[in-house]
Amino acid sequence: MAKKSKIRTPIVCVMGHVDHGKTSLLDKIRGSSVVSTEAGAITQHIGATLVPLDAITHMSGALSKVSVNVPGLLFIDTPGHHAFTTLRARGGALADMAIVVVDINEGFRPQTIEALQILRNYKTPFVIAANKIDRIHGWRVQKDQPFNKTFAQQNERVQGILETKVYELVGKLSDLGFNSERFDRVSDFARNICIVPTSALTGEGIPDILMVLVGLAQRYMTESLKVSADGPGAGTVLEVKEERGLGMTLDLILYDGTLAVGDEIVVAGNEEIIETKVRSLLKPRPMKEILIEERFERVRSVTAAAGIKVAAPKLDGVIAGSPLRVVRGPNRDEVVEQVRHEVQDIQVTLSDLGIIIRADTIGALEALSKELEGHQIQVMRAAVGPVTRHDVIEAGTIKDPLYSAILAFNTPVLPDAIDTLADASMSHVSIFEGGVIYQLIDDYVEWRDAKKQ
Ligand code: GTP
Ligand code: MG
Repeated sequence: MAKKSKIRTPIVCVMGHVDHGKTSLLDKIRGSSVVSTEAGAITQHIGATLVPLDAITHMSGALSKVSVNVPGLLFIDTPGHHAFTTLRARGGALADMAIVVVDINEGFRPQTIEALQILRNYKTPFVIAANKIDRIHGWRVQKDQPFNKTFAQQNERVQGILETKVYELVGKLSDLGFNSERFDRVSDFARNICIVPTSALTGEGIPDILMVLVGLAQRYMTESLKVSADGPGAGTVLEVKEERGLGMTLDLILYDGTLAVGDEIVVAGNEEIIETKVRSLLKPRPMKEILIEERFERVRSVTAAAGIKVAAPKLDGVIAGSPLRVVRGPNRDEVVEQVRHEVQDIQVTLSDLGIIIRADTIGALEALSKELEGHQIQVMRAAVGPVTRHDVIEAGTIKDPLYSAILAFNTPVLPDAIDTLADASMSHVSIFEGGVIYQLIDDYVEWRDAKKQ
């Protein structure tokens, strides 16, 4: 018998370079949607914000003419590709779509390019927010207006500047292999990336970006968004956090099925697979109540897609990015095997000879390894967590000194590893640290090429 299915809320990650306006954009989306629906139907989740479709249609009137069946959009609040790479589902990226925010006055910066490379590797649909249009000299602000309305109010010179800047972005995207256009000139979403001029400060263009996102979801992913609402819950751990009075907790993005208090769950730990039972499920209280001592509201159960905090015993050592599965019925061993498989399935190709890589999450490790593969740089060992003394010793004994390197992406180097590195016998080993993948790779390549000579 076919399971009853429904369309789940698409998950949207916000990516882009530092200070280009990711957080402001989300704030604006949140703010405008609260205002636009009197009931304030928008809900705050752990690590995410759910903007229901009625709030979106209210903001972008044009949508109401199209039949839409996605229930809304779930925006992941943790900005940057940290969230994108952490959130995985069955070996791929969990995010269904992304917004890449770029300051239209500054253009592409290292993290913009990195975000685009990651999205290309995962084949994730995305839209570009060409943000801070209000900073264009002479811009006349039309608060919260759709792009075409505000554009029509600008003088020719300002319109010209905007066009030039958009075409600069089109050119840069083309260098990276993407076809793109200003969104109102795109007729085929599958062929062209939409560039939406926005201002996260004034709200201009915000209705359009929401409309483009819903359009993308509607036309190109309704099949992949089908879920079994009553089935056992499946999710990805976004963060592992200690909370006062609760002990260790998981911030979880649930993307399928239902999760309830008392459910048996399986997650991946650093050393082993962990089986435990949900003690409580916690939702954040509405913003206005955030200062109250009790920050969370307890709920009995939650259905996908949602962001929820999970409290349970034995959560020490759970890794960010781990899958979480609910065991229902007699299939316990099967579920444990599934989780084990998913974790081992990290798409890192290892060689007998190569460098050592470290990252803060499974997904980040995978993203780094995909880029290294593209550069034909071999990896001998890949692990989540800080760089250890053992890593340094291992790098020191590698036969080919060109591989005596450790790349640490978004993760610290432990003090005893630093001590070991200072040892004269380790003088040929180098550790490269950083938060931008391709800069890490560039640094390594430069070091290696200098060694070759
Ligand atoms: P990180 O989280 O640090 O990477 O930055 P971010 O991308 O989240 O940028 P954020 O939203 O914090 O914005 C950075 C600064 O730019 C803030 O001072 C914002 O007020 C400002 N800003 C963001 N969007 C706009 C915009 O559309 N117009 C103008 N004028 N300022 C903006
Ligand atoms: Mg931010």
